[in-house]
Amino acid sequence: MSALEPRRWLIPFRSNLLPQMFCDTLVIGSGVAGLRVGIGAAESGDTIVLAKDDLEVSCTSLAQGGIAAVTAADDSIEQHIADTLTAGFGLCEEAAVRQLIEGGPAEIDRLIKWGMRVDRGEDGCPQLGLEGGHSRPRILHSDGDATGRELFRTLLKKAQSCKRLRLFDRCHALDILTVPVSGRGASGTRAAGAITWHPRYGLQIIWARATVLASGGAGQVYRETSNPTVATGDAIALGYRAGAWLADLEFVQFHPTALYIAGAPRHLISEAVRGEGALLIDSHGDRFMPARHPMADLAPRDFVSRGIVEHLAATGGSHVFLDARKTGGRFASRFPSLGRMLAGYGIDPAHDLIPVHPAAHFTIGGAWTDLDGRTSIAGLYACGEAAANGLHGANRLASNSLLEGLVFGARVAAATAGDELADPVPIHMEGAVRARQGAELDLSDIRSSLRSTMWRNVGILREGSRLSEVLSMFDFWSRYSLDAVFDHPSGWDVQNMLMAGALITRAALHRTESRGVHSRTDYPLLDPCLACHLLWRVGEDTPRRVPVGALSGVLA
Ligand code: SIN
Repeated sequence: MSALEPRRWLIPFRSNLLPQMFCDTLVIGSGVAGLRVGIGAAESGDTIVLAKDDLEVSCTSLAQGGIAAVTAADDSIEQHIADTLTAGFGLCEEAAVRQLIEGGPAEIDRLIKWGMRVDRGEDGCPQLGLEGGHSRPRILHSDGDATGRELFRTLLKKAQSCKRLRLFDRCHALDILTVPVSGRGASGTRAAGAITWHPRYGLQIIWARATVLASGGAGQVYRETSNPTVATGDAIALGYRAGAWLADLEFVQFHPTALYIAGAPRHLISEAVRGEGALLIDSHGDRFMPARHPMADLAPRDFVSRGIVEHLAATGGSHVFLDARKTGGRFASRFPSLGRMLAGYGIDPAHDLIPVHPAAHFTIGGAWTDLDGRTSIAGLYACGEAAANGLHGANRLASNSLLEGLVFGARVAAATAGDELADPVPIHMEGAVRARQGAELDLSDIRSSLRSTMWRNVGILREGSRLSEVLSMFDFWSRYSLDAVFDHPSGWDVQNMLMAGALITRAALHRTESRGVHSRTDYPLLDPCLACHLLWRVGEDTPRRVPVGALSGVLA
């Protein structure tokens, strides 16, 4: 058994022996994308949103910086588009970028109508923050640095008021159900829901007309990450096992400034802190970003993260510092949650330097979709960090991701309502699994070994021979870990992480150039011939290359 050629199902099951539920739209994930899809889909059909932990455990709730959108009279859609394309390093699908940014203002108005509070100045206008890669301040925020918390509160309240929407927490989606498509001209399979597990109710089948992957990214495959524990690459693994095309998997964004203190989680220190004037310095007190990029500390994230690790490699040391001292008393009022968190470690940003290092933050790749979130499998959609529609190119612009969940969440909901999809017919399904009675496994050891390996070899700087070694290592781990059948989420999470890690590594090996967040020390230059997306599907060893701009061809 290999992570790249996995078995179809994580567990054996017989659908007619399990409790069954029915809905029109099943959404896997309860972050901004999942809730926004759920709210939209519930206008026209029965909808279920699943969260594998508590509903609020997602990257969305942790988001600090805010939501990038054009709301100021002197800002422009074209300028936000230009900033996004520049950050994306020649790999953005411009149509997706345009959809996002043109759709932004209406989604912001809707959020405010639903009760979201954004920070405002004395004139009543939203206060706008500045972040890396933006040519002007345009980031809306709430309670200073708790935008995600307020966004989640707003969306959850709205979701709870939707009569046709049910929210299931602690419900793990194990696999997407796919059924053969019959009828003239039809071929292949279509999605029909998911097999799920709940600690109280056990295994269940949820049949659905439309199934939406909105379960976020794969940050947990890296030892250093800003992501919560639920970010185990489930969308990548579920999509791959179901046979969907996946794209852009080599592009993993590393946030430049995660708190770097022994024993502390890698709390994010928002880019907005640099937007307010904080500077990156090394242990000698010297700045290093001005020599590396004209935008210096506020360059796009890929430049800053690379700048930090290259500077550390050249000068020694394990981390750099964020110097926010000149923001003085403003730090506490502008970033109250960060101030409280830092105080817990005895750091007062008005007087002390903040130790920081990059950490895995955002998974750009995912299930390849069109502009309405349709994947290559009929009835299966993807949205937010789980999806790859070319919007972010090779490097996501700061604070575009919450907007992505909102704008594309609304579009996916409209597509699930409008597309001609067959009603779920409860056919008898068996998930056959040939399991080897394997050796005793220490799951936490596998998890931490794979996270360290990914961090050391498939992180900010990559090199071909190391990537090949990591692939062989995944192959070996998979032989005994993917053959096993687990009856608990900790096992399924590790199996999904093995697949996501192997897929990211294989994609990184195939992209023999440096572009955006993907840096190869053995191929340090941009290769114009690689201005394309690499698409992968189970059963194929080489990627399909899709030139930028040729989005729709693949999904047809
Ligand atoms: C941040 O606040 O720096 C994170 C925002 C983002 O990931 O876009």
